[in-house]
Amino acid sequence: MSAVITESLCTGCGLCEKVCPAKAVLLQDKTAAVAKDRCLSCGHCAAVCPAGAVSSDTAGNKTFRVEEPAGSAVEQLLQGKRSVREFRDEPIPRAVLEELIRYGELAPSSRNTRGRKYFVITGPRVSEFEGVVIRGLSRVAAPAKPFIPLIKLFSKKKGASLASLQKLFSAMQNAYAEGHHPVLCGAPAVICIAGPKSNMQRKDDCVCAEQYLMLYAESIGIASCINGFTQIAHKEAEKYLGVPDTHVIEAVIMLGYPKYRYQKPVRYETDVSWTE
Ligand SMILES: Cc1cc2nc3c(=O)[nH]c(=O)nc-3n(C[C@H](O)[C@H](O)[C@H](O)COP(=O)(O)O)c2cc1C
Repeated sequence: MSAVITESLCTGCGLCEKVCPAKAVLLQDKTAAVAKDRCLSCGHCAAVCPAGAVSSDTAGNKTFRVEEPAGSAVEQLLQGKRSVREFRDEPIPRAVLEELIRYGELAPSSRNTRGRKYFVITGPRVSEFEGVVIRGLSRVAAPAKPFIPLIKLFSKKKGASLASLQKLFSAMQNAYAEGHHPVLCGAPAVICIAGPKSNMQRKDDCVCAEQYLMLYAESIGIASCINGFTQIAHKEAEKYLGVPDTHVIEAVIMLGYPKYRYQKPVRYETDVSWTE
């Protein structure tokens, strides 16, 4: 499964290349091409293309199709919301960030415990925080490194996936050292949500708030994206942010004003079973 570009329609504007989260789209000779082995089939390229030149191949089970936006304002909000990693260089005012958190906190929590704590990082601190996360990722991966050849003997798949994680983390480290932002994507603001260790359902609580916050943000023109990498390096992130010992970061959101406009929503093939 992968996105497919119809060469005759492609204008070579390069928007697809800019938004692709997997860096699977490459502009060559003013025409975009998709590296099938990297494509996530997320449809970002199709959604952003002003010429309607991108579709999904129909092989495999992760296909999508481009649609016209339709329905109520809420339906169109849900159809149009994408995980955005390309932000304008424009800060989000503190009052707006406070509003986002207010809506996040309206989300349900198990037994209405409402034990969530929010940690906001803005401006140059985001890049500093990213450095902390990247060092944390390397530390998470380091203990497994010497054992990869051994793990490969027992499970080729597991060994290969560990090796590719190691490679990814070290590429991130190099990119960061060169002044890029491979993890937090130059977002002007990041919000981490921590839940109490004492609550077994804290992850759900934090993710509920994350989703409320992100949807409200979208409704006022602020784009967002979940950041799983920071969750992986949560211990270093907690130390940097001064999260109390009682809490664990369970959700991380990058936020900012979007650089590019997605033209159309995509609809995915969905796997549903009914018991009636
Ligand atoms: C648990 C989770 C962790 C994620 N972590 C990251 C991340 O670290 N970096 C990132 O760019 N996107 C991250 N994403 C976003 C997905 O990659 C995104 O959903 C996918 O690219 C499809 O894009 P869409 O949300 O616009 O449909 C994460 C999503 C989830 C649910």
